[in-house]
Amino acid sequence: MRSLLFVPADSEKKLPKALAAGADVVILDLEDSVALADKPRARGHAREVLTSPRGNAKLFVRVNALGSGLVEDDIAAVIPVKPDGLLLPKSESGADVKRLIAMAGLSVIAIATETAAAIFNLGSYGDCGPHLLGLTWGMEDLAAALGAQSNRDAEGRPTAPYQLARTLCLIGARAAGVEPVDGVYANFRDLAGLETQCRDAVRDGFTAKLCIHPDQVEVVNRIFTPSPEAIARAQRIVRAFAEAGDAGVIGLDGEMLDVPHLKAAKALLARVG
Ligand code: COA
Ligand code: MG
Repeated sequence: MRSLLFVPADSEKKLPKALAAGADVVILDLEDSVALADKPRARGHAREVLTSPRGNAKLFVRVNALGSGLVEDDIAAVIPVKPDGLLLPKSESGADVKRLIAMAGLSVIAIATETAAAIFNLGSYGDCGPHLLGLTWGMEDLAAALGAQSNRDAEGRPTAPYQLARTLCLIGARAAGVEPVDGVYANFRDLAGLETQCRDAVRDGFTAKLCIHPDQVEVVNRIFTPSPEAIARAQRIVRAFAEAGDAGVIGLDGEMLDVPHLKAAKALLARVG
């Protein structure tokens, strides 16, 4: 799982394009990109997509938030047609995820930074069980929750509260043993900026990224696929430790490598199979 592409589930025009965009996961959105009056129609389209022959992309549904008064109908509409998972918006803690799992019995990825309270609970996702696949973060709802005038500085970079949300999402996901999924890059015309953000995300440990436009998928898939150079280096590191008799520390190319480097190399090789 590298790219997860949102598509408003009420858009007959966009749904086929999203399915053909090459994303690893297509997220049929029933929440914020769908107006209240269009929710029933969106649920109908989501059901249609889920009952049609499936391609390579996994199909997730973003349901409305717990307590919205809408999530029960979302679940009733899509459970019988078996999506691969659900995206839970405005999750405030592991307890919310457990509630959704109890209601739906499906895999879940939670957007875990969209309210002020959520930020204090990013360490609470450790006991959700195997249905919780990942945590991701968003900054538009959080900005509204914080009463911010803007969530970006003059250069367009997220300001401190949103960098904190991103960081805690990454650490919370790793602490829970689930995938850290980077949030949306909203400027979908700026693919160079997206690429920079993807490289930063991979550097920091994120393994996948949310997309909002088909053009973003190629960039995300490319940057989140470990490069042949990275794979070759990981193989060299594992080999060098083995040749040193599984030593605790070795020198390779004039650099000290110890157990964390070996673990990282093994984790990368496990990802690529
Ligand atoms: N999925 C499928 N198709 C999409 C798409 C998406 N997420 N985003 C754009 N497209 C389609 C457009 O319909 C358009 O099709 P056309 O060439 O037949 O007219 C084509 O791709 C090019 O789109 P473009 O003109 O560049 O963008 P737009 O102004 O039509 O749409 C958005 C911009 C932001 C409204 C659109 O990208 C979108 O709906 N994104 C998803 C929003 C969402 O789900 N948000 C919730 C999570 S934050
Ligand atoms: Mg939102």
